[in-house]
Amino acid sequence: MEKRQILEMAKEYVCPGKIDTFGQVGIELVIGKREGPYIYNIERQRFIDLHINGGTFNLGHCHPELTKVLVSALENTDIGNHHFASEARALLAQKLAEKTPGDLHYTVFASSGSEAVDIAIKTARWATQRRQIVSLDKGYHGSTGISGNVGNNQNMDYFLSRGSNKDYVQVSFNDLSQMEKILSKKETAAVIIETIPATVGFPLPEDGYLKGVRELCNRYGALYIADEVQTGLGRTGNLWAVTTFDVIPDILVTGKGLSGGIYPIAATIISKKWGGWLSENGFGHVSTFGGAEPGCHVASRVLDICSDPVLLDAVKKNAAILGQGFANLKSQYPFLMEVRQCGLVIGLKYDDPLGAVTMCKALYENGIWAMIAGFDYSAMQCKPWLYLDQALINDILERFERALKLCATQMSKR
Ligand SMILES: Cc1ncc(COP(=O)(O)O)c(C=O)c1O
Repeated sequence: MEKRQILEMAKEYVCPGKIDTFGQVGIELVIGKREGPYIYNIERQRFIDLHINGGTFNLGHCHPELTKVLVSALENTDIGNHHFASEARALLAQKLAEKTPGDLHYTVFASSGSEAVDIAIKTARWATQRRQIVSLDKGYHGSTGISGNVGNNQNMDYFLSRGSNKDYVQVSFNDLSQMEKILSKKETAAVIIETIPATVGFPLPEDGYLKGVRELCNRYGALYIADEVQTGLGRTGNLWAVTTFDVIPDILVTGKGLSGGIYPIAATIISKKWGGWLSENGFGHVSTFGGAEPGCHVASRVLDICSDPVLLDAVKKNAAILGQGFANLKSQYPFLMEVRQCGLVIGLKYDDPLGAVTMCKALYENGIWAMIAGFDYSAMQCKPWLYLDQALINDILERFERALKLCATQMSKR
């Protein structure tokens, strides 16, 4: 089919609003071939994927080894029956328990990050017998019922899902005194925090902030839920970003990249101490597709790859080189105002309230797909795949420089 026809059908039958929003900034991407760090539009034009769907393609598009794992799993299994024990699911859960910090132990499988966040919150409410969930005011944790009510919850009222006003409370990032004011009332079941919040362009936690939140949770009887859907799986140079900040959560949520980009799977890993409902009520959360067996085979290999010290060292080394390159660009182009970085979690803030929109378009015209931060249009998420090398770093930086020059010209004409 031709691009125009696909866009029109998608607009008619899928989501008119999305097609219109991208169309308004001149982005009409219909993805065709995809391979490694690249996506191609159906006219075969290549783009370096720096959004990678929030980490879904951490290991690249159509990873050959993971594809083989999936194909071979499909020769012997289907999705399986979620009510019964399965070898693939048990082995993956054991691996997750081994590769997560502290006494994180039980895994409840889900088919999306949103569902996994729902499970985390249900667990915290059961464990504490409290309802209130505290999150960052501009965070994002998903779009299902419960997950959609935490973080920036504009959709909560839009879809009429607000309960009591006290159930979902938002606080500002890096503000421990605001956090303490709320937690000290001892009504909070859990604090949910994305270790480095994507939707505001990856601002970094200040020294001691996440550890401080952990201590406040301990003091006032709330659980700490680490949302590692985007930041986990090797991106910071450690398997999990929370451990980079020396925090052991009570519950850890992973998704996106766990799928290897080829089979949807997400997981909520719960500490032994708080997972009692799994013994008491085996049917407390039922998910037909959660932990589908082909996905478990893929995810198990993903975990091995992402925890390989050779890969993690390369992530750290290449992140430093790329970071230096962005710092050089920042010194030459004041439009690039701030470079935030923790490993290959990179946020770029521009000197204009709509700077990331302008830059996103300029990068698109220069063969890079990078996404605006959803709740701050001056900031952009920049997440290359984990197998970065010098040639790709050079290519990325050259294209950024061209795009920055283009923006500088556009800005000067305003
Ligand atoms: C930090 C974070 N948590 C949770 C989710 C929800 O994941 P999913 O889209 O798989 O439901 C997302 C999705 O973008 C996310 O970025």
